[in-house]
Amino acid sequence: MSDADALVLFGATGDLAFKKIFPALAGLIRRRRLDVPIIGVARSEWTLDQVRARVRESLERAGAFDAGVYREVCARLSYVSGEYADPATFHGLRERLGAAQRPLHYMAVPPTLFEEVVKALDRSGCVRHGRLVVEKPFGHDLESARALYRALASIFPEEEIYRIDHFLGKEPVQNIVYFRFANALLEPVWNCHHIESVQITKAESFGIEGRGRFYDATGSIRDMLQNHLLQVVACLAMDPPPSGDADAVRAERVRLLRSIAPLEPEDVVRGQYRGYRGEPGVAPSSQVETFCAARLRIHSWRWAGVPFCIRTGKRLAVTATEVLVQLRRPPHAVFSDVRRADPDYVRIRLDPAPELAVGLRVKAPGEQMIGQPTELLVTSDLSEALAPYERLLGDALVGDPTLFASQSEVEAQWAVVDPVLDEATPLAPYEPGTWGPAEADRLVAALGRWRAPSVASAPARRAA
Ligand code: BG6
Repeated sequence: MSDADALVLFGATGDLAFKKIFPALAGLIRRRRLDVPIIGVARSEWTLDQVRARVRESLERAGAFDAGVYREVCARLSYVSGEYADPATFHGLRERLGAAQRPLHYMAVPPTLFEEVVKALDRSGCVRHGRLVVEKPFGHDLESARALYRALASIFPEEEIYRIDHFLGKEPVQNIVYFRFANALLEPVWNCHHIESVQITKAESFGIEGRGRFYDATGSIRDMLQNHLLQVVACLAMDPPPSGDADAVRAERVRLLRSIAPLEPEDVVRGQYRGYRGEPGVAPSSQVETFCAARLRIHSWRWAGVPFCIRTGKRLAVTATEVLVQLRRPPHAVFSDVRRADPDYVRIRLDPAPELAVGLRVKAPGEQMIGQPTELLVTSDLSEALAPYERLLGDALVGDPTLFASQSEVEAQWAVVDPVLDEATPLAPYEPGTWGPAEADRLVAALGRWRAPSVASAPARRAA
């Protein structure tokens, strides 16, 4: 592990930099965790003042503007504009890097450009003893992920390649791992003997928000399922690592990911919201999914026969991310009302307003032994917590890879989704503002129904 001595941001004028990276850099500066030069690189022919104005707008939009911090970002920021295919761009970068020996190169550019940019870094002498941070998706399928790795690994050693999956930087996702292994309560029931099924819903009520070109080349399986949601599955289902060290945790995540069976077409439903084809940058006859639902099977002693059902989509009914771990019913119904009631559960809401809840039945006051559902609920105030990108960028700057996906993880994730990519399954239309195509219901038919996230915390409002 060594600290980076410069940060190079490719795609500095793009959407990701605007929405996530500039606020993260400002946060790191505010917390005194960033004291290196920041060199933005992009194709836009902008002046440094224009880039600074963009940073200001980004911080204002994120509600993170602070005049002192903004001044410091500006003081550290320089800008190189040019085509990625033009050697002059990289000569300009080399000059800006000066004597820096361990630059961190952040690829906030479309995945199709990763290889070209990295090769140009190599040719121009900008790699040095540097580190590479790459955005997801890493590759377009298993084969291209391997090819991309071969190309990058000939230039950066594996331990200096940091694959971002910002879900791993989310506090509630880290808490899944912490909560599971810091307490002895959960582990004895965390298996197929006590858990019936697991549902994960990542719903977004908004659409593709001007990202048509990227999205139409990606779709929801590659954008969400292959990376973010499989990482949530890994955190939920992995075995206890021997320690919290980066290598130990990553090794357990990868072992779990490798035990997920490759998806079969009958375990997947793809949908597309009506109106998607009219979005800028989207092909008029696009077959790309904006919704996907999948039923995963984990081939392991712990999880035999427990379906992990995942759904995610754009323009759905609400914006929320929630895990529902459904427990088995008591083996014998002492009280007759229990037979008809929904089973107990553990509910983990990641967004908005993280919550951790255990749903149980308690006796309703009265003469009869009849119960009612209730929740033991823990809420977290994350207002002072590091935002995911801030956390991950900070970790990458100091060389801590724990919360980044290794190549083995990425390949294991692709192996799960590879058989159902593109048009391997039919595409069903759905109305914006709904829960996606009704076809997705068949994936959970054996379990009853999909459970809508509890965007209001009262259990009574949880019905799908
Ligand atoms: C990104 C996807 O990686 O994650 C987006 O490209 C998606 O399509 C986003 O909206 C969701 O992240 P979060 O942190 O808002 O849940």
